[in-house]
Amino acid sequence: MARQRRVYRCTNCGLMLEQWIGRCPQCGEWNTIVEDALPAGKTRSIRNEHTLKPVPLNAIDTEATISRTSTGIDELDRVLGGGVVKGSFILVGGDPGIGKSTILLQMANKVASNHARVLYVTGEESAEQLKMRGERLGIESGDLLVYPEVMLENIKEQISSSSPDIVIIDSIQSILSSDIDTPPGSIAQIRNGAGALLEIAKGMNITVFVVGHVTKDGWIAGPKMLEHLVDTVLYFEGDSAGAYRVLRTVKNRFGPTGEIGVFEMKSDGLQEVKDPSHLFIHGHGNDLPGAAVMATIEGTRALLVEVQSLVSRSSFSMPRRISIGIDLSRLSVLLAVLEKRGGLRLSSSDVVVSVAGGIKVVEPAIDLSVIMAIASSALDKTVPRGTVFIGEIGLNGEVRAVSRIDTRVNEAKRMGFSNVVIPSSNMASLDNTEGIKVLPISSIRQAISVFKE
Ligand SMILES: Nc1ncnc2c1ncn2[C@@H]1O[C@H](COP(=O)(O)OP(=O)(O)OP(=O)(O)O)[C@@H](O)[C@H]1O
Ligand SMILES: [Mg+2]
Repeated sequence: MARQRRVYRCTNCGLMLEQWIGRCPQCGEWNTIVEDALPAGKTRSIRNEHTLKPVPLNAIDTEATISRTSTGIDELDRVLGGGVVKGSFILVGGDPGIGKSTILLQMANKVASNHARVLYVTGEESAEQLKMRGERLGIESGDLLVYPEVMLENIKEQISSSSPDIVIIDSIQSILSSDIDTPPGSIAQIRNGAGALLEIAKGMNITVFVVGHVTKDGWIAGPKMLEHLVDTVLYFEGDSAGAYRVLRTVKNRFGPTGEIGVFEMKSDGLQEVKDPSHLFIHGHGNDLPGAAVMATIEGTRALLVEVQSLVSRSSFSMPRRISIGIDLSRLSVLLAVLEKRGGLRLSSSDVVVSVAGGIKVVEPAIDLSVIMAIASSALDKTVPRGTVFIGEIGLNGEVRAVSRIDTRVNEAKRMGFSNVVIPSSNMASLDNTEGIKVLPISSIRQAISVFKE
């Protein structure tokens, strides 16, 4: 008789190992390796009943198979790439309490009132809790089926018998299969549950939304296997204590990534914010030392955000560097460039940099505004009023060109800013500068010279 092979798996990153060890060699976490029971005899059989044949690419009809429908929430449609694709598998991740269940219930209500059948599987909250949330959100749709269940087998059966258009699983960590001998939330259960639901999505052409919680490292638990499995990954950003929530497309097989949807948490649910530039800046920005406004590109639209900085004398032998909303190693590089090429002494100061409003900016076009905010705080002088700063900084202190300068400048103009500082190498690609004064610069020395005027 063949002996069943034992495998071990890291519950944090999903790495598979032949033997148990105390620390995961991939993610470095301690005590996260657990035995992973593979169900005996469950090897995948090769389908040979209907043999598929290769077809020429131009003979494939996408119109018939890929149909998009609106979720009834424009900002959600935007992050999905223009609506939800039938038969797609979507993962919605985020911190606890950020609003995952809220947005999905609101969406479920909108599509159900549009005559689509929705099955909301709630494994975390009781049907009564969900009803209470529904009452708060003003939802009373009779077409919305709520199913408080965690057993995968029952869920599959229910989906087969009621054949809904959309299934919502809240959350994948609560789903349990009796075939597998590990607790809910374990890597084996998540992988098995997600695999079974994916089969349903593709086999029955049902759209499946799956809620995934985030581990302490900010990863959706079991990220490696879930992310490659699903069609779309949406991730909630923002401070769950604050009012604004940003839903970002991290992966999308049916549309662009990097798109964001902005919402405000109110007592009656998440409300769409159609013009988010107003949210992330304070008045015309730049009114206090340590603040500089920039224009970032999020998917298809530009957004003004305010970078804030606080530079103070450090009481530690190793001064602290804290970054919120930008990459910490990027901040360290910018501080080194500012010291070496900008002539500012910061090695004995604590430096905090934060992007206001809880949004994350990963693109390098934010560099110039970070430098300006830090210099402004260090010198205790405000940056010129009504100015937007756009530019990537190179290691020699040069200001480098950024993408889509037109869109950024237009957004600054639309928001009533009177000046925009841009990389001089971007000047050639800028068409219309009417209504806003454009100041081209090529080095950070030139940029911070405004504080000496
Ligand atoms: N009466 C209320 N007024 C305003 N906001 C509320 C009210 N009740 C709840 N909220 C907001 O809703 C949030 C909870 O949202 P929700 O349950 O959708 O989050 P979740 O991401 O599903 O959380 P979990 O991970 O616990 O499932 C709370 O953090 C709070 O901000
Ligand atoms: Mg929830």
